[in-house]
Amino acid sequence: MIIAPSLLAADLSKLAKDVERAAKSGAEWLHLDIMDGHFVPNISFGPAVVAQLRPLTKMFFDVHLMCSRPKILLEPFAKAGAEQIIIHVELGDAVTPLIWEIKKLGKKVGLAVNPPTNIALCEPFLDQIDLLLVMTVNPGFGGQSFIHECLPKIAQADAWRRERGLRYRLEVDGGINHQTVAECARAGADTFVAGTALFSQRQMKAAVAKMRKVAEANDPALADLKV
Ligand code: DX5
Ligand code: ZN
Repeated sequence: MIIAPSLLAADLSKLAKDVERAAKSGAEWLHLDIMDGHFVPNISFGPAVVAQLRPLTKMFFDVHLMCSRPKILLEPFAKAGAEQIIIHVELGDAVTPLIWEIKKLGKKVGLAVNPPTNIALCEPFLDQIDLLLVMTVNPGFGGQSFIHECLPKIAQADAWRRERGLRYRLEVDGGINHQTVAECARAGADTFVAGTALFSQRQMKAAVAKMRKVAEANDPALADLKV
């Protein structure tokens, strides 16, 4: 399994310090939320910030684009050091060419689905992606409460994966803490993004270890799932 602290919950005036905290926490990935003030009602940071953080750690950079026109951002984020780029299924007809473009750049492809969006919209892309991200809050802000109605979507995505012999990772993002991680693990998630629940802890390493333990207790298969 993978734990991915979300940098959105870091102290933005001390980004480098918080990247180092995450790197030493035992978490495998760093989740980077990119918001454009249009697809979501908030703005975060861009490729120049990611490029400056890149030399600080060997962590896998999981870049989540909450942007209306990701096409113009793919190359800049690939060059900035993204290892995986996640786009949203809500972009409709743009999704297929975006997937091709991300692959052409040699990066892993993630597809995200918002809470109100039908998971069936992801179905045509399942054999083309490395990761499916089931959003468990409406994107735009950290620190929101987990939306329990999203759990059946996680179970559906896990069932598709098994029925079709596919290997995409199943990621959850939003309101993940030491309680909700258990429900997500039981539903089939294997990759857990957590912002507030990890960065708010003084002992981030202990918080990551505890989250891992809870997830594994709720789905023993997770102990074997490594990138
Ligand atoms: C929400 C972002 C999340 C956010 C999660 O728009 O996609 O990655 O940072 O934050 P928490 O874990 O605080 O809900
Ligand atoms: Zn995110």
